Amino acid sequence: MALTLCMAGHVDHGKSTLLGRLLNDLDLLPDGKVASLEAASAARGVPLEWSFVLDAFQVERDQAITLDITHVRVRSQKREFAIVDAPGHRDLMRNLVTGAAEASAVLLVVDAQAGVEMQTRGHLALLRVLGIPEVIVAVNKMDLVGWSEARFDAVRDELRAAMHALGLKATAIVPVAARDGANLVQPWPDAPWWRGGTIVDAIDALAEDDALEAAARGPLRLPVQNVYRQGTQRLVAGQLTAGRIRAHDEVLLLPANRLTRVTSLEGWPDAPSALAAGDNAAVTIADPFVIRRGDLLCDPASPPKMTTVFDADLFWLGRGELDIGRRLVLRFGPRETMVRVAAIHHVLDDTTLAAVGRDAVPESGVARVTLRADVPVPVDSAETAAPAARFVLVDGGLIVGGGVADATQYPDQRARRAPAASNLVAVDHDVRAAERARRAGHQGAVVWLTGLSGAGKSTLGIALERRLFDLGWFVYTLDGDNVRSGLNGDLGFSPDDRQENIRRVGEVAALFADAGAVCITAFISPYRDDRSRARASAGKRLFLEIHVDTDLATCEARDPKGFYRRARAGEMKDFTGVDSPYEAPDAADLVLKTAGRAIDECVDELTAFVVGRCSAT
Ligand code: ADX
Repeated sequence: MALTLCMAGHVDHGKSTLLGRLLNDLDLLPDGKVASLEAASAARGVPLEWSFVLDAFQVERDQAITLDITHVRVRSQKREFAIVDAPGHRDLMRNLVTGAAEASAVLLVVDAQAGVEMQTRGHLALLRVLGIPEVIVAVNKMDLVGWSEARFDAVRDELRAAMHALGLKATAIVPVAARDGANLVQPWPDAPWWRGGTIVDAIDALAEDDALEAAARGPLRLPVQNVYRQGTQRLVAGQLTAGRIRAHDEVLLLPANRLTRVTSLEGWPDAPSALAAGDNAAVTIADPFVIRRGDLLCDPASPPKMTTVFDADLFWLGRGELDIGRRLVLRFGPRETMVRVAAIHHVLDDTTLAAVGRDAVPESGVARVTLRADVPVPVDSAETAAPAARFVLVDGGLIVGGGVADATQYPDQRARRAPAASNLVAVDHDVRAAERARRAGHQGAVVWLTGLSGAGKSTLGIALERRLFDLGWFVYTLDGDNVRSGLNGDLGFSPDDRQENIRRVGEVAALFADAGAVCITAFISPYRDDRSRARASAGKRLFLEIHVDTDLATCEARDPKGFYRRARAGEMKDFTGVDSPYEAPDAADLVLKTAGRAIDECVDELTAFVVGRCSAT
């Protein structure tokens, strides 16, 4: 696969001029084209407009009219590559998302005078959406800033900071004056301070290997396309999207979460000894596990996360707006799963490309969303296996969007372990729940308070405990900060640790409820699946999920521990509501609003609700 370079950047920053001049300097324009343009410009008394030379490629453009992109094959002295350009970033995105244009690197044009504007940030965000690994930046119009080294340094530092914030890294940042052809193909003598080479040098220096070779270095991903029988053998077939595979490799089968071994690679006329990303594979495995199309064989040492919820940067291609709650088919390679749009975090504004809060994604919009799948799906991190993190959305058989999944802020649900010990036989209690309830005067129950930090969970939990105790009830509160200094002292705030925190608390609360107590829990418990698991742990016992619903702004204004301030200042990482998600319940037993209300009023409401539900009948 040859290198494909995509042009990005605002037209005003000189993207077309740069492309036109680059093609000229590489001797790729038809003979006489420049001369005729020069004559026409001189006759009108205007300087030669390099972007007009792109008309020479009009024919190609017409052929690709539905794609509306320019595709030019280019050869430098060292290598062959293709340049892809589209009139607007939307056209480019559309093509990249649907796979019509394959990009392995991007050439971004930034105006030296304007520097890193909102639009540049927006373009960088799009590159992040697409998971483009290599970005060459041309800082253009250096002639208009007098080839000032200081100005270039300032723009370069700004760019680096903006890219760093998005997890991107520039392969090269080169000062150019596209109109003059400065530092495109020829070095520019007017800037003796610049020794970093030209744009073409930067292109030539791009890693020789292509996207597939990079993918081959990642951990194994073999999505199962088909399973069929050949004689006594069962062949598992698919195309490797990442990594390599050989006979005798240990592999993990997902979603079954079973370890097995590759017994052979099949092929005709000869079986290959190893296969890598991009290859079609037919393998046999050691165990007779059930395997279906859409399953995944992967590297047990670094499997993807299995999760029902993840964030995604997506490009919406469907008709009309994309609303919260919309159900669509998510397609990751051969795997298809129903998903629901659970939240829309921001939409990139049409013109400024700045992130703005919206409750629907407009047609052709780019947005950050949370998707919820009906069953756990494997989600790769963009770092370990970028191609596997890309998905498309399908509706009525048509592709209506695409994007990149990001599950970094959600726990791995693969770890829904069965007990480590086998040979367990449950013991029945002789004392029955009804007897306990009769003596206590109320049912055993779990009263699960969930909400943001500072929402008022602990305050309300402790106050409820007092009220119920004074009624003579058997009641106890488990509070996040307390339990985290004892039972859960080994856990931090990573998604997996939060999951384990809630798993243990759910089990302990269930034991309390079993003992006949009303167990109040006050934990953020940000993940919906963890809360449903806590409900499942309570089994037949009453489980009341109470959303202490205080909006983020109010919690931040309260900031009882000063944590929001520290999180905003970047001194605390993974803080819920700031840089870690909170999934509000959509069917809580009680939604308790606290903003603008007196504590007593909230406690009254909560107590009345709990007493009403737990009183023995
Ligand atoms: S949970 O997410 O795992 O449910 P939990 O309720 O146990 O959290 O603990 C939350 C408390 O820990 C907060 O009230 C706060 O005092 C403290 N805390 C420390 N670091 C964080 C963080 N990164 N995010 C949220 N809370 C934090």
